[in-house]
Amino acid sequence: MEVVMPVFNDGITATARPEGTGIVTTDVLIVGSGPAGSSASLFLSNQGIPNIMITKYRWTAHTPRAHITNQRTMEVLRDAGIEGQVLAEATPHELMGDTVYCESLAGEEIGRRPTWGTRPDRRADYELASPSMPCDIPQTLLEPIMVKNAAMRGTQVQFSTEYLSHTQDADGVSVQVLNRLTGHEYTIRAKYLIGADGARSKVAADIELPMEGLMDIDGSMNITFKADLTHLVKHRPSILYWVFNPGSNIGGLGAGLIRMVRPWNEWLICWGFDINGEPPVLDNAEAIRIIRKLVGVADLDVEILGYSLWGNNEQWATHLQKGRVFCAGDAIHKHPPSHGLGSNTSIQDSYNLAWKLAAVIRGQAGPELLDTYSTERAPVAKQIVNRANQSSRDYKPIFDALGVTDAATDEEFTQKLQLRKENSPEGAARRAALRAALDAKDYEFNAQGTEIGQFYESTAVVTDGGERPARTEDELLHHQKSTFPGLRLPHAWLGNAKSKCSTHDIAKGTGFTIFTGITGQAWADAAVNVAARLGIELKAVVIGEGQEVQDLYGDWLRQREVEEDGVILVRPDKHIGWRAHSMVQDPKAALTAVLAEILSVGLEDCDLAEEAEAVLAPAGLGR
Ligand code: FDA
Repeated sequence: MEVVMPVFNDGITATARPEGTGIVTTDVLIVGSGPAGSSASLFLSNQGIPNIMITKYRWTAHTPRAHITNQRTMEVLRDAGIEGQVLAEATPHELMGDTVYCESLAGEEIGRRPTWGTRPDRRADYELASPSMPCDIPQTLLEPIMVKNAAMRGTQVQFSTEYLSHTQDADGVSVQVLNRLTGHEYTIRAKYLIGADGARSKVAADIELPMEGLMDIDGSMNITFKADLTHLVKHRPSILYWVFNPGSNIGGLGAGLIRMVRPWNEWLICWGFDINGEPPVLDNAEAIRIIRKLVGVADLDVEILGYSLWGNNEQWATHLQKGRVFCAGDAIHKHPPSHGLGSNTSIQDSYNLAWKLAAVIRGQAGPELLDTYSTERAPVAKQIVNRANQSSRDYKPIFDALGVTDAATDEEFTQKLQLRKENSPEGAARRAALRAALDAKDYEFNAQGTEIGQFYESTAVVTDGGERPARTEDELLHHQKSTFPGLRLPHAWLGNAKSKCSTHDIAKGTGFTIFTGITGQAWADAAVNVAARLGIELKAVVIGEGQEVQDLYGDWLRQREVEEDGVILVRPDKHIGWRAHSMVQDPKAALTAVLAEILSVGLEDCDLAEEAEAVLAPAGLGR
């Protein structure tokens, strides 16, 4: 079910220009129209928050860098009302995953492994976990969808506009920008500034975000080209074809890569070089030589679309904001594309930040809520930088098993590649090691835990007094299915005789939601009062027989982990904010106290101190 978001602004009310000041004003200024910036604009416009997005260039990404769009991102885009538009342009899930390891695309195969949840046993995990499946959409196609929808819903988009500098004070941020067409410099005054300006972020540098790790640790090149390779891939459809031939163990993503951009005639090659040596000379002739070598067809007909050199990074910010300025996306996590985490995490950063900014701007939350952006997302930044780099390093056991790690010359490399076929105990050991190394790549390619398993601990999460349940499965491969506060809302199909929808469709991104059962009606009654008292959107959903929403398959009962008269409070970003295992004496006081905690609303101001103490402390519900 696609959730259609309302159009909030006409684009003019989004900003104002007080007469004579020459200063443009808005609530949030976003620098960058990449995945982090365009999604931040979209989410803020969905929340009805006036915003301006500036970007340095005349249009969005011009190379198809990001493509693997994971389940969590698809859920977020579903909530934003654009999942259908994305799927219409994407390569579908079923064509994503017959990942191939080969000597060259036309040459011998080394092995294959179904990925991204396309293997039947893992497909079940993926289908059970989410209403949305992964898909493959190049960044060149995804960004325009987000920008278009953001603009339609209120974002003022300013292309060819460069961020220069900013100053901030107690009330807002004054940002100096340059119109690159006219050369005119002007000021945009915003309540908040988001720096979504990529891995070389000037905003992050200007607020001196603390960084750990290193930049430019390995050399990579991208070559984009057109060639009809249908006959080489149609029987093993995949977005990734990994090539092990001479030179493939130097730099790059850990091995040579031919990546599908559009099936099956547009491609991107990632190939490495030694970053400590002279940068390679990359021209048309060299690009064609590399393409033909990896494809394994000496006279392949090729149309070169572009090429560039770039460096792999292993760096993350340990704090993501300063005062009224926040950074998101590659500005705070810089890593190789291995595992396809960059754009996904960037969009999820913005999803975490947008509802908090909206709540504070609307006066529903205290500014302390914004501190939880760093508390919740900085650990994610570190985790994905480490994970992506580890995924690159995990190619070494494959090279070791093949026996080519120390090959001194191209001839030796090619010769040793044949060792895996030997009829000998050594050959058998090599084959066993090779299979183990290929299967271990599940940590990059079937890692649902990494993709959707984020857990938040902050003041915007109130524990239920218990311990997070122990994990019984590998946390990288499998996500934790639980309603423990801080985890992502479990997906269950619900509905009635006329319709079917996910728990994720019911809990809207524009407000809070509580889920309870028929004997928990008092929670729903209380919610009306609590919403009015705190001035927030709080939707109550009573699930059960005779209700508008029924647990038709019993999936919610199996996952909710609370009694029928308990309650689960879901934040706008679909993470669990709090839960109560059963009915409490005063559900109104409990919900008010918990939401005031999450929103950092001063308890005294709200006259809630006594209620909070009465509800949270004895029940052991405090943080
Ligand atoms: P991004 O760099 O995309 O955008 C920065 C924006 O800021 C741009 O709009 C730019 O114009 C603007 N800007 C910069 N300076 C400015 C200034 N001073 N003033 C105004 N505007 C300014 N990720 C993923 O999730 N799945 C995947 O499959 C892949 N695959 C992949 C393959 C390859 C080959 C690469 C190189 C990368 C990937 N990625 C990926 C990573 C992904 O491309 C990357 O993480 C995102 O583009 C990051 O998005 P951001 O919006 O943070 O920055």
